[in-house]
Amino acid sequence: MSRLRNIPGAADVIRTSEYCIQNPENFRGRWNCVFEKRQPLYIEIGMGKGHFLMDMAEAYPDRNFIGIEMYDSVLFRAVQKAEMRARIREGEDPENVHGLSADVKERPGLMRNCNFRFLRMDARQLTEVFGEGEIDGIYLNFSDPWPKDRHAGRRLTSSGFLKLYEKIMSREARLEFKTDNRQLFDFSLEEIRENGWKLLQYTFDLHNDPEMNQGNIMTEYEKKFSARGNQICKLIAVPRKEENSECDRKIRV
Ligand SMILES: C[S@@+](CC[C@H](N)C(=O)[O-])C[C@H]1O[C@@H](n2cnc3c(N)ncnc32)[C@H](O)[C@@H]1O
Repeated sequence: MSRLRNIPGAADVIRTSEYCIQNPENFRGRWNCVFEKRQPLYIEIGMGKGHFLMDMAEAYPDRNFIGIEMYDSVLFRAVQKAEMRARIREGEDPENVHGLSADVKERPGLMRNCNFRFLRMDARQLTEVFGEGEIDGIYLNFSDPWPKDRHAGRRLTSSGFLKLYEKIMSREARLEFKTDNRQLFDFSLEEIRENGWKLLQYTFDLHNDPEMNQGNIMTEYEKKFSARGNQICKLIAVPRKEENSECDRKIRV
């Protein structure tokens, strides 16, 4: 991914934003106390600028969402966007809503019913931040492909990460992964299989798969790459093998 240039002041904004949780390890095992409502908790790892996460939070008000991103400059854009969306929802004219407003802290109404938050952290620390079985679903969208073999361990669908996910996922939790990168997708299918996970569904062409595409919320990268004509792959998997470990869908090309 081409990183955003360093944005002066981004770290300060993240440190003081109501959307960003500081010292997240303090909430391990009790994340629901961060939100107004106690409800199932979903995370997106590598959320980028947060479009998907915020659209999901709007579409599913009966769930809580946490977006995880490791770069200040990227997360800063998500915070900006979150504030702008809240101000528009509170009745401000979209034409006049730009950047971050200085008075957000004095306007608690902006955070009313807010069912999402952001964390600036590396996914490698997931088990320090979330308790056993605390997460009801994980989204990975257009994760960095790390094409060199020696970097395979950095791919968010590699064995080491799957083992972390297993620890924090509840019994019903599912992992959903989308990418346009066929090599990364094939690698992920293999890792899922080798780690004894159960593959529930997959497709190599999500946007032409009526069943899997139903209710699909597009990510920023998904919009960009599908506009270029790239096919989008998606898989849904769960950590433990159940009686019927055969994938119940045929491959769609
Ligand atoms: C290619 S972008 C995709 C952004 C977004 N999910 C989308 O689909 O539009 C991948 C993002 O994952 C973040 N990322 C990569 N590895 C990560 C890790 N180990 N922990 C947290 N974020 C990570 C990157 O900083 C980047 O913003």
